[in-house]
Amino acid sequence: MIVIERVSELREHCDRARAQGRSVGLVPTMGFFHAGHRSLMRAARAENDLVVVTLFVNPTQFAPGEDLSRYPRDLEGDRSAAEIEGVDMLFVPPVEEVYPDGPPRTTVHVAGLTEGMCGVGRPTHFDGVTTVVAKLFSIVGPCTAYFGRKDYQQVAVITRMTRDLELPVKVVSRPLVREPDGLAMSSRNAYLDAEQRSAALVLHQALTAVADAVRDGERDASRLCDAVRAAVAEVPQVRLEYVEARDARTLELVERITDDTVLALAAQVGRTRLIDNVVLHTAGSAVEADLGMVIHEELS
Ligand code: PAF
Repeated sequence: MIVIERVSELREHCDRARAQGRSVGLVPTMGFFHAGHRSLMRAARAENDLVVVTLFVNPTQFAPGEDLSRYPRDLEGDRSAAEIEGVDMLFVPPVEEVYPDGPPRTTVHVAGLTEGMCGVGRPTHFDGVTTVVAKLFSIVGPCTAYFGRKDYQQVAVITRMTRDLELPVKVVSRPLVREPDGLAMSSRNAYLDAEQRSAALVLHQALTAVADAVRDGERDASRLCDAVRAAVAEVPQVRLEYVEARDARTLELVERITDDTVLALAAQVGRTRLIDNVVLHTAGSAVEADLGMVIHEELS
């Protein structure tokens, strides 16, 4: 695996690979790898000739007062995890390499999909994400890019941006990955102390109860969201920011659970903001609830 810091070098490697008829897989990350990141790397490895992982804690997607300065970092650990997953290239640019002229004057805004859900509490976040991802897509060029469904809204926004701008990238969304006890994997879980971590389990428990209720025939979105609110209210360390049922593709609010719905939430546990979701597919009385997956094998 080679570690690259320069945009021009990454572009050259990717162009050369494609010129040789090799496919390129891209996994954009902010580092501090966990099994969720590694599942994306594995998917990219299985499906592409050249696998590029980018590791960049993108300042433009953090608002003042958010956790940019304390965002967990472990370059050495990340480097060895990426190596184990068979990554060919780890792109770790300094901030000045990505934003040589300071904050970009050209930004990408995906209207409609970014105002609700996490966009309410983090109104500048998604423009930071889409702008940096558009830059990464432009540098890497035609490729398949892998994102996890824990950040459900992010995947929807990036998919729409890619389509709207005809970017030559296939966006692949991969399952949310959970800890064995159900907590959705996130680099931010590292902020939680033992008590907060166990309190945070209520989020997965509440979403599991939603899936069960839908399997039992409940289709009313507000009743399901109320049940999540009630469950979370029982746990004083967890403050729910939102819980909403949305069309899984357009992210429009829905009143009833229909064919494809995502029920998503964000919550504050101490100073840590966590997100989670369940994707519900219904066809008559048949229900498929996608709560993600647990990876049981040991990742060394
Ligand atoms: O999901 C993330 O880690 C980031 O939002 C991304 C997509 C790498 C953009 O900085």
